[in-house]
Amino acid sequence: MANFNKKISTLFEDVLYQKIIRNLLLMSKFGRQSVLGEAATGYNFDYMYQNKPSGYNPLGYLVDSILLNLPSVQATRNRRNNLIKILSNEVENNKISGKVTMIVDVACGTGRYLLDIAQLFKGQAIETVAVDYDKKSIRYGQALAKEYDVPETSLRFVRGNVFRLSLLKKFGGGIDWKPNIIVASGLTVYIDDNKSIDVMKNAYDALDDGGMFLFDSQENNPSRKLMEKIGKTKEGAWVLYYRKPNFWREWLHKIGFQDIIISRDQWNMYNLCTARKI
Ligand SMILES: C[S@@+](CC[C@H](N)C(=O)[O-])C[C@H]1O[C@@H](n2cnc3c(N)ncnc32)[C@H](O)[C@@H]1O
Repeated sequence: MANFNKKISTLFEDVLYQKIIRNLLLMSKFGRQSVLGEAATGYNFDYMYQNKPSGYNPLGYLVDSILLNLPSVQATRNRRNNLIKILSNEVENNKISGKVTMIVDVACGTGRYLLDIAQLFKGQAIETVAVDYDKKSIRYGQALAKEYDVPETSLRFVRGNVFRLSLLKKFGGGIDWKPNIIVASGLTVYIDDNKSIDVMKNAYDALDDGGMFLFDSQENNPSRKLMEKIGKTKEGAWVLYYRKPNFWREWLHKIGFQDIIISRDQWNMYNLCTARKI
């Protein structure tokens, strides 16, 4: 009997997600992108930041508005605000000590954070590089940079795979360009532990002395079931790697980082981590 009940509830859940919720999501712009393989793209995340609902019919508009107000989406916009606060604080500290701020954002998507910083500190001593392998996100970011009048001298987009090209190492090897901030947001949740450890090690090697590594991670996600049941990335199901702060703390410490600060948001979803190469 217990087995029968389990089978019925699985069947019911499958119908609910695959036939009802999925079809509703297909009517909304954010939902459609998220179920048709573009869930983890930079431009899909930028859609959450822009927070302007759009649908293919009035019901789709309503579904889009609901999706954009899900706790996980609110948490994602809140992550952007917190990242910008941390970056702005670092830029101000660099200014006071007469340093040019040099930022690399790996897996930048549309480069939204660097666009924010370039606008906030227009005409000031800031040079930033945004790296991503997705053509559409890069093009979108370049168009935004034009729209916001952000010159290429303060924000340069580079298309490349942050692993295959060892891009971080390349930046570290530059003669007169060594980043004092490296940002990696929305990257570690898609990669396994070994790759995540590589990212931390490469960031350490590439950073200038005194530089800061800023990245995010997820402990949990209030939309986890919805994402796993019907969300799709270019690689397949929208399944993330969830990790506890201690994983990061231990590895950052082992690698040699100091001043490790890890915060948790009010949704118990995102951790924001900063660590310094002294
Ligand atoms: C979830 S989005 C995050 C975008 C942005 N960093 C943000 O926080 O909004 C993940 C981004 O990582 C990029 N990405 C994933 N793996 C990458 C890799 N190996 N090299 C370059 N970009 C990568 C994807 O193209 C996508 O734009």
